[in-house]
Amino acid sequence: MKKISEIQPKFFEFTKENLNEAHNLIKKYPKNKKASAVLSLLHLVQKQNNNWIPLEAIKYVAKFLAISYMQVYEVVTFYSMFNLDPVGKFFVQVCTTTPCMIRGSNKVVNVCKKYIAKNQNELSKNKLCSWIEVECLGSCVSAPMMQINEGYFEDLDEKKTTEIIQMLLNDKFPKPGSYKNRKNTDSEKKRISLLGLEDA
Ligand code: FES
Repeated sequence: MKKISEIQPKFFEFTKENLNEAHNLIKKYPKNKKASAVLSLLHLVQKQNNNWIPLEAIKYVAKFLAISYMQVYEVVTFYSMFNLDPVGKFFVQVCTTTPCMIRGSNKVVNVCKKYIAKNQNELSKNKLCSWIEVECLGSCVSAPMMQINEGYFEDLDEKKTTEIIQMLLNDKFPKPGSYKNRKNTDSEKKRISLLGLEDA
C-alpha cells in the first residue's frame, strides 16, 4: 500500500509548457481513446511536481481526460514508479538486483544511507532528496547503477557515488552516464568480440 502524503497542495494545474505537451501527448491516441494518455500525463505531473503526485493532480488529470478520479487513482497506485508522497527534488533509485549486487550496489546503498537518510523513503535533512532500492533498471551492463529523476548514473563505485550525492545535497544535478567514461555500453578494454578472453 502506497503512503499518501498527509500534506496536500490545494491546487494543481499544468504549467503553460506542460499544458501544450499534454495536448501533444493526447494527439498520439485516437480521438475516442484519449484516456490512453493517462500514464504519459501522470509522468508529466510527476516531473513538474518534484517527483510526486498530489491528490489534486489526480483529479486534474481525470478531468483533463474526461475519466473518473478512481480510474486515474487506480493507475497511480498500481505502478511503483508513481509517488504519492514527497520524495524530494532529487529522487535516487538504487538498483540492487543480482548483476548490480555482484558489482557492489551495497556500497552505493551505504553511501545513500550515510549522506541522504538512514532509511529508504526518508527525506534528507534539507528535504532535497530521498532514496529507495529498486529492481533491475535494465542497465545491468553498466552495473552498479542508480537512477536519479530521469537520468541513469552508471559504472559507480563508492567514491563516485559520494560525489554525486554530495552534488544533489548542494542542489546541483550531476552529469548522468558512465562514471568510467564508457561511451554507451562499449567494452571497458575496447574489446570488440568475445574472443581474446585474456582481456576479459
Ligand atoms: S541488475 Fe541493476 S540494472 Fe539490471
